Amino acid sequence: MPETIKTRLSADEWDEANFPRPEENGFDRVVERAISRRGFLSGALAFGSGAAVMSAGLLDAIPALAQQSDRFAFKPIPIATDGTVHVPEGYTWKVVAGWGDPLFSGVPEMDQETAGSADDADRIFGENTDGMEFFVVGGRQVIAVNHEYTNNDINLPNAPEGIPQSAEDVRKLQNLQGVTVMEVAEGPDGWAVVKDSPLNRRITHNTPMKISGPAAGHDLMKTEADPTGTQSLGTFNNCGAGKTPWGTYLTCEENFNGYFGATEEVELPEQVAAGYERYGLSKDGWDYEYHKFDERFDTSKTPNEPHRAGWVVEIDPSDPESVPVKRTALGRIKHENAAVTLAPDGRVVVYLGDDERGEFLYKFVSRDLYVPGGDTSTLLDEGQLFVAKFDDDMTGTWVALTPEATGMSAPEIAIFSRIAASKVGATTMDRPEWVAVSPVAAEAYCALTNNKNRGVKANAGGDETPVGGPNPREANNYGQIVRWRPEGGDHAADAFEWDLYVMAGNPTVHSDAYAGSENLNEGNLFNSPDGMVIDSSGLVWIQTDGDDSNEGDFAGQGNNQMLAGDPVTGRIERFLTGPKGSEVTGLCWSADRRSMFVGIQHPGAPFPDGEGKLPRSSIIVIKRDDNAYVG
Ligand code: FEO
Ligand code: CA
Ligand code: CA
Repeated sequence: MPETIKTRLSADEWDEANFPRPEENGFDRVVERAISRRGFLSGALAFGSGAAVMSAGLLDAIPALAQQSDRFAFKPIPIATDGTVHVPEGYTWKVVAGWGDPLFSGVPEMDQETAGSADDADRIFGENTDGMEFFVVGGRQVIAVNHEYTNNDINLPNAPEGIPQSAEDVRKLQNLQGVTVMEVAEGPDGWAVVKDSPLNRRITHNTPMKISGPAAGHDLMKTEADPTGTQSLGTFNNCGAGKTPWGTYLTCEENFNGYFGATEEVELPEQVAAGYERYGLSKDGWDYEYHKFDERFDTSKTPNEPHRAGWVVEIDPSDPESVPVKRTALGRIKHENAAVTLAPDGRVVVYLGDDERGEFLYKFVSRDLYVPGGDTSTLLDEGQLFVAKFDDDMTGTWVALTPEATGMSAPEIAIFSRIAASKVGATTMDRPEWVAVSPVAAEAYCALTNNKNRGVKANAGGDETPVGGPNPREANNYGQIVRWRPEGGDHAADAFEWDLYVMAGNPTVHSDAYAGSENLNEGNLFNSPDGMVIDSSGLVWIQTDGDDSNEGDFAGQGNNQMLAGDPVTGRIERFLTGPKGSEVTGLCWSADRRSMFVGIQHPGAPFPDGEGKLPRSSIIVIKRDDNAYVG
């Protein structure tokens, strides 16, 4: 495809362009199978009441502000179409860190002409801030945050069309991505990064990692540089995140396929070729061009290298010397985030979405129990991976991906989790983005962002994408949030009940299922839910990454935004609007919950520095003017 077009494709558009699948007929396209708006709402209410009952015992712990009769301690704001951030009256926002901000002394501030050097790129706050978590380490306050991908035309201003021209350009991009661990502190001027903190750390595409779990040491994981198959370099396309009860950070590798390409055609073993097909590995790669300048990414030389990406990686933010660990028991997919909770018996449960059209929702349950203060080093290595099957009767099952069920070995199930899940007939979903687990009720939510292929095309494995269940609309351009309650309130249980918390849509344009559910109205319109976190009071914070044209189907929806939803009543209100062109992604709170940190990724406007300056993805902090709790 022409380079000029190539650089303008998002990762999912690029996958589509590289692996076109025929439009198929014969699916049941009848939208009546969608849950009717009335039926949906009554379901939501019934479900919500249950949640309220279940959470009653925990409400004592909720700050007084959140307990007032109006769950929303803010006046909702209108949509915006401008180039900055808006928050409700009585709240103030400020930038904490943006792409290019030095984490260490001796690193210059952003040079607007060069956008910084390759050498400095791993000593600054990286590009495209995404999932993040807040930690307290020995009295220091620390944010661990992902840097998902690059904006080449901005990051490489001297490369034509932003296409890397040299090993130096590639090294710069590699250094701008990965993870930042940084100490932050609140002073008289608000929150700022603590430069030179001993905890500050950048993890990049070249940082040494360990590989553990069922895939470690398997032949498919071995390369010439690592004949053991247990050591790899770098973490890739770090999207959403997670936090364990034992204080580690989980970073999730999403569109890893785009970093790999091939300089020549080679015949791959059948199993490897099938994996390439399913995970979207192509000869050209996305816009990174790594394979032309760094042999590790040239799959004609190192065909197993892509098997070493697509994992959840555990990082200890308290030890900057610690080696991150790729936890292969959690499967190899295009990982969105890792929502960790504990079963009543102490087993660790991790929910995992695979963000691609028609891919699946997963769950890992540890074999061993989490014991505070005990050994946690193998908790995420030993356990069972499951995939979700949703039935139209609003029940569902977690199906174990075992050798018996799939005909695959344990390492193969880990490395080719998608293929294993297809074999057991998992439910194809409308692009699972973040999963959020409620801390006050035994329920979890997954943002299904949108899926133009629903009922139109099969997924990359040839699995049909019938309209129905939690994916009730053909060619779904708005997205929805599915919610489930595990049997017996136990997230380790095999059975669950589900409903839709919200179907995004546009009731000002449509009067059918595309109008959305009844908890949408002119005042809270949005599309493409993506980031999602439930706060300590149970409010569901929803961040969007969608069409911000504000036209046609998306009229009245404005820029991407963040909303808060009441889990019980279904009421949803808009709290924040982002700058034009940006995605709002990443959310965490200070330990005292008086500060909320939100990520603004790839602003299209010159945010936050203003006209004439490069746009910079940034973390902002939001506080109430009276310093009360935020969420
Ligand atoms: Fe990186 Fe699916 O969002
Ligand atoms: Ca996302
Ligand atoms: Ca998204």
